[in-house]
Amino acid sequence: MEKQPDDLGKTDVTPTYENLYSDRSRTMKASEIRELLKLTQRPEIISFAGGLPNPDAFPVEPIKEIVQDLLKSDSKRILQYGSTQGVPELREEISKRLKNRWNMDGDPDNVLITVGSQQGLELLGRLFLDPTSTIVMEAPTYLGALNAFAVYEPRVSSIPLDDHGLDVDKLEEYLVNLQKHSVNLKFIYVVPTFHNPAGVCMAESRRHKLMDLSHEYDFLIVEDDPYGELRYTGEPLPTLKSLDKEDRVIYLGTFSKTLVPGFRIAWSFGPKPIINKMEIAKQAMDLCTPPFTQHIAKEYLRRGYIDEHLKTIISIYGNKQRIMLKAMDEYMPKEHIRWTKPEGGMFLWATLSDGMDSTEMFTDAIAENVAYVTGKSFFADDAGQNCMRINFTHPGDEKIVEGVKRLAPVIEKWGDKVRKMKDDTGSEVIQGV
Ligand SMILES: Cc1ncc(COP(=O)(O)O)c(C=O)c1O
Repeated sequence: MEKQPDDLGKTDVTPTYENLYSDRSRTMKASEIRELLKLTQRPEIISFAGGLPNPDAFPVEPIKEIVQDLLKSDSKRILQYGSTQGVPELREEISKRLKNRWNMDGDPDNVLITVGSQQGLELLGRLFLDPTSTIVMEAPTYLGALNAFAVYEPRVSSIPLDDHGLDVDKLEEYLVNLQKHSVNLKFIYVVPTFHNPAGVCMAESRRHKLMDLSHEYDFLIVEDDPYGELRYTGEPLPTLKSLDKEDRVIYLGTFSKTLVPGFRIAWSFGPKPIINKMEIAKQAMDLCTPPFTQHIAKEYLRRGYIDEHLKTIISIYGNKQRIMLKAMDEYMPKEHIRWTKPEGGMFLWATLSDGMDSTEMFTDAIAENVAYVTGKSFFADDAGQNCMRINFTHPGDEKIVEGVKRLAPVIEKWGDKVRKMKDDTGSEVIQGV
């Protein structure tokens, strides 16, 4: 047989790639959650797993209008490389909006445009973390931040949160202890508003206390805020950045949840020396964030479309959240599960009875064609086994109810099983959680 082009020049000896990877890359592992999420892509599955906006709400027509206008008037610029820090007019629009809407002081030079706020997290890890560095994260915390920082091998201390956000008293105890051992905290990473995965907000008094602690114990705060604009009920809370008198907060914002995630446009807003350093690190990474989508986002803000769009998605998501909470109330076996009732964002966080394991349950849920994210994915250690994250923004309204109906019997089955095991072994039966 004639040799095919693919065979030409190939020998039997392929390199052993494993021996060639850098030490740093050895810490990179395929995450269990990503593997599980692959299963949730099947069309028959109602997925409460992803953190996705609803694509039916994407503002396609205004984007079409802007793209056509920009291609006519400014094609040479929007299709060219751009500056690493980002399109100046977009940085200006963002800094204006942060000031007017959230009372955060700064100018365009406090802003670095990044490829999603995920890139902001990676840049902060790259800038601040060595294998000896200590950072604090909430427990639970955003999985993507855990992954972004893990590459730099910091020591991660987890401080629990409750229905009012981070437990700042526990944080204080921890800081006292850290000081006793002369250990410096580099930064604390928090999602204070409509937390991912817990859905809760840090109470205002706790926000003030956190700022006081950052002064007393001299650490930085990374405030990650993709969901702050998505409030369905209740009153807005001040961002940590707006309370920041000492330039200690690096605030991460994004258009992923408020406009479209496909643009991959986000921003880091912080002290100029840190923004400058992040810019240098970013230059080596990707030269610049795509100017094309930056210009579209800039025009979207300039034409005043964002507030109208926010009203629309707040109404759609708020309604979905009510549907989800009502269905949970109606169908879930309450002796085995409780859940948060957030005022905004995209997620409910459910806690199952002690001894139940959402990872063990997952196969049964998939067999019933419903999916969620397992709780332990959101912890730096092995905690959270009896928790799960439930997204309510992506599925259609009827699918939300149907999905809850499918999930409830799975929880009931596993809850009863665990209770029976406890009865049989004579251990205490915990009713509810
Ligand atoms: C808390 C948090 N931070 C960051 C991100 C990443 O967002 P982006 O799409 O801007 O990279 C997400 C996405 O879900 C998130 O929930």
